[in-house]
Amino acid sequence: MRILAIETSCDETAAAVLEVKSSSFKLISNVVSSQVKIHAKFGGIVPEVAARKQMEMILPIISEALNFLPDKKIKNKLKDIDYLAVTQGPGLITSLTVGLETAKTLALVLDKPLILINHLEGHMLASLLKYENNFIIKNKIIYPALALVVSGGHTMLVLMKKENHYKIVGETLDDAVGEAYDKVAQILNLGYPGGPAIDRLAIQGLANKFNLPRPMIKSADLNFSFSGLKTAVLYLTQDLKNKNKLNEQITKDICLEFQTATIDVLLSKTITALKKFKPKTFLLGGGVAASQALRQKLNEKISKEFPQIKIFIPEIKFTGDNAAMVALAGYYKINKKSKIKNIKYKKIKAEPNMTLPHKS
Ligand code: KG4
Ligand code: ZN
Repeated sequence: MRILAIETSCDETAAAVLEVKSSSFKLISNVVSSQVKIHAKFGGIVPEVAARKQMEMILPIISEALNFLPDKKIKNKLKDIDYLAVTQGPGLITSLTVGLETAKTLALVLDKPLILINHLEGHMLASLLKYENNFIIKNKIIYPALALVVSGGHTMLVLMKKENHYKIVGETLDDAVGEAYDKVAQILNLGYPGGPAIDRLAIQGLANKFNLPRPMIKSADLNFSFSGLKTAVLYLTQDLKNKNKLNEQITKDICLEFQTATIDVLLSKTITALKKFKPKTFLLGGGVAASQALRQKLNEKISKEFPQIKIFIPEIKFTGDNAAMVALAGYYKINKKSKIKNIKYKKIKAEPNMTLPHKS
């Protein structure tokens, strides 16, 4: 069985082909075209520009992903596809629409089932993908599982009691952690996207030079808040500027303290959730999962306190937006035939605010 997956939720145009034969998985292709350089000029993502670029890139990227299939003719390559999987939401409506309408068209023309995927589901499953021995996926979830999703748009803890069963047990009440990274980078004049820049500079920062807040670290629930932390960086930076004290080393020190504050909160809430739900597997996902400090500290702390829990941390190439994770999420839906039967083309629309069920 082969799945062609498409992901266009924000500023990446991505396509992937996943092949599943009995229980062996092969990622035939995984192509991502990023617009990051274009948006960097504006200091952040401009939705109209993102959508236009998505339109330009969607067919070249799909054709590149299909090129990895053996047949010479595109018609024959397409015949080898059994399912289409596509991100329906959440994300930017115009970007999402480009991928979704393309997938709908392909499904209609090829007469193949279309599987609609929640982008967050993709991020949660991305750590199962392992590039080893010719792209074989090895990791298997033992349920119940707990996922921490940290991206530019989301910060959440999700409980998975069984396959395809998601429940948000904690989430940010304001900014997502990636958003806070991007805004802090803007305050410190480090460009866009902020995560990689802050992550890099923090390595050279001196610890404990500043004392930023750890919002909601002591609250009994599993929710997060990062906007106060961002504002604290803004006031600290303004104060240092007024005193003519902001220099390269101080900037690095602020980066380290900001990074440590976010990680302290993420770690503390994750540990509380692990104690509460006693999962057998922990999964990390999302763009911020590329942070070396976060990966290392989560791994150290969880393996020390919960040695029985399987920890899956995504390979760097699967942390940001990609279609391989959408293909994998699609695979998990195929057994649930009801989800992919009777597609009503007119009714399927991009869902910019698509969410997962919440814990009541
Ligand atoms: O998952 P993603 O690619 O897009 C969304 O679904 O939002 O996440 C993008 C976010 C950006 O906010 C970016 O600054 C952050 O991931 N990011 C990082 C790192 N690399 C990317 N944050 C911290 N450390 C990094 N190394
Ligand atoms: Zn994402």
